[in-house]
Amino acid sequence: MSDFEAEDLRKRSLSSENTFEGLVDAQLSRRGFLVGAGAVAATAAATSMITFGVPSEAQAATGFTTVAETTADTVTVPPGYKFDALLPWGDALFEGDAAWGHGAGEINGGNLTTAEQNRRVGYNHDMLAMFANPFGSPASVAAQIAVFNQEYTDPTSMFPDYKAGNPSRNHVDVELAAHGVTIAGIRLVGDTWVHDKAMRVGDTAEGALVARRVTGTTRFTVDGPAKDDPRLAGAVVGTLNNCAGGFTPWGTYLSAEENFNQYFANASGVPAGRTKDNFRILGMTNGASERRWEKFHDRFDLTKNPNEGFKFGWVVEVDPYDPTRRPVKHTAIGRFKHECATVVVQYPEAQTKGKVVVYSGDDERFDYVYKFVTDGTYDSTSPRAKSHFSLLSSGTLYVAKFNANGTGEWLPLTIDNLNTVAAGAFDDQADICLRTREAGDAVGATPMDRPEDVEAPCDPVTFAGTGKVFIACTNNSNRGGSANRPTGTVRSGAIDAANPRANNRTGHIVQINETGNDHTSTTFAWNIYLLAGDPKAATGAVGDVKDTFFGDRFGSPDNVAFDKRGLLWISTDGNPNSYPCNDQVLCTEVAGNGKVRVKRFLVGPAGAEICGPLFSLDNTTFFCNIQHPGEGRASTFPYGAEARPALVAVRRTDGGIVGN
Ligand code: FEO
Ligand code: CA
Ligand code: CA
Ligand code: CA
Repeated sequence: MSDFEAEDLRKRSLSSENTFEGLVDAQLSRRGFLVGAGAVAATAAATSMITFGVPSEAQAATGFTTVAETTADTVTVPPGYKFDALLPWGDALFEGDAAWGHGAGEINGGNLTTAEQNRRVGYNHDMLAMFANPFGSPASVAAQIAVFNQEYTDPTSMFPDYKAGNPSRNHVDVELAAHGVTIAGIRLVGDTWVHDKAMRVGDTAEGALVARRVTGTTRFTVDGPAKDDPRLAGAVVGTLNNCAGGFTPWGTYLSAEENFNQYFANASGVPAGRTKDNFRILGMTNGASERRWEKFHDRFDLTKNPNEGFKFGWVVEVDPYDPTRRPVKHTAIGRFKHECATVVVQYPEAQTKGKVVVYSGDDERFDYVYKFVTDGTYDSTSPRAKSHFSLLSSGTLYVAKFNANGTGEWLPLTIDNLNTVAAGAFDDQADICLRTREAGDAVGATPMDRPEDVEAPCDPVTFAGTGKVFIACTNNSNRGGSANRPTGTVRSGAIDAANPRANNRTGHIVQINETGNDHTSTTFAWNIYLLAGDPKAATGAVGDVKDTFFGDRFGSPDNVAFDKRGLLWISTDGNPNSYPCNDQVLCTEVAGNGKVRVKRFLVGPAGAEICGPLFSLDNTTFFCNIQHPGEGRASTFPYGAEARPALVAVRRTDGGIVGN
């Protein structure tokens, strides 16, 4: 980067830092009415603490017309908005390759080979990030590198000749190639985002091609405390079940490996001991896997290759600006069912260098919320500095404990602390990184209602945080019921202050305020931002939330995102389990009386969940991913033919700010 670019970035970051922090504070300055002790009873208690009354539309910060509930098989957006779908599964990433379709010479699920899938968009888009091209461009730049996860394959939807329980070698290998991460250039032409197969890094003829795939067979580097552990010996190949993720101010993409247990078989043959216990805790299958990949690949057979099970469950870093940089698995951030890896930078006052903080949820009933604080510092005056690419290799991993009185602690998962609370339970720091759930159990972390996305509003250029963190707990049908973790060592099904509802069908969002607004702090205050559900339901009905927000009902918040004004947006996964409406995107705003107003902005097509909500830096486009259209219901999204997961770009027809 030239000095001019660095200086320009610094100036922009300073100005936007002030502005953004102010915006977020204005939006979120309400103080928790569901804090701590007695949160269960707080639905009643809240009545005396806040002022009710529905403000008029004129008070709303968002000017769009709320979208009605619908089960239509399309993307429904407010009047004055339009959507475009692009980069569906199977589209060619490179110029000259055959089109997707069912005509002569075209590629489809019936003739798709591994070699073809390796050159095409993968299946079931989840996390989405956009990287300005070239790096550091102004917010309005038309060239963007889109990077998005592929969470999992659905072979019965992908292949017309698939037989459950008896896949062909080609099916399995195409599935491996359809997992991972897709990197593709997109460009705003007029008012439409289009796929640009020819885009090069830097948007100049000299740059490397942007288009690239990272798949279930890509070779990885491993770093951090466990990199030399015997359980990670040999090649580390592939990334699987990449769910949500994050992105860094140095221009890299973070991808979180979530439900990786489903790819492995025959855990029953692993000798009794810590490895077998760990596999049980993570839900590895004892017999044949549903996918049967072990039929063709011994590495997915845990009896034959127990170590392979330790090579997944990590946060992965990919550099979209440098295809020669091998992707990395960061063991320092722990191994569990990572939903996300959200990054903020904690700058000491008036400083340009700060520690990097990564938040992550472990999406399982009764699992934990984590954060990782780097040892090294990020230098915002030189974003692409070489040293930044090893920042995530060393630091301190913490797990959250939510006290009933509205305070909380970040408990360090260090060998010193573990030796204090559970002497002998862990060999060394590497062992903690590999068996992170057990470490969370040992220190007494708070089991949550499936923590999905964790989002911390931050400046879009410097990533300076505000000290606020939001956790989407998607739902927990076992809360108040039977234990979930099959070791029986930790699980209690009881409700608690941070998870206040039994049979929590609709989920909730927890807000953390780090002490001193410092993301490296080891203590925090917390409150419940909202309980999802139906604010108009009869009191006492399942999903009754009339005391925590008003506006549009919804269930199962999964991914959350902030727009550039500091408003929190929510996408759902499982709303149809609660209400007759497809999964959706909603905007939250804080009205004058301190209550949250929820407005439905978008409803997805039949059978799909909505993932990867993201605003362009100039806030004129809302992006999201449509995952598994047609799951459980017929769909022809996006193009009126077979259902294909795809990316969606939503814009105002007048090109204005989305949501205004
Ligand atoms: Fe892959 Fe937790 O959603
Ligand atoms: Ca998903
Ligand atoms: Ca998710
Ligand atoms: Ca989910």
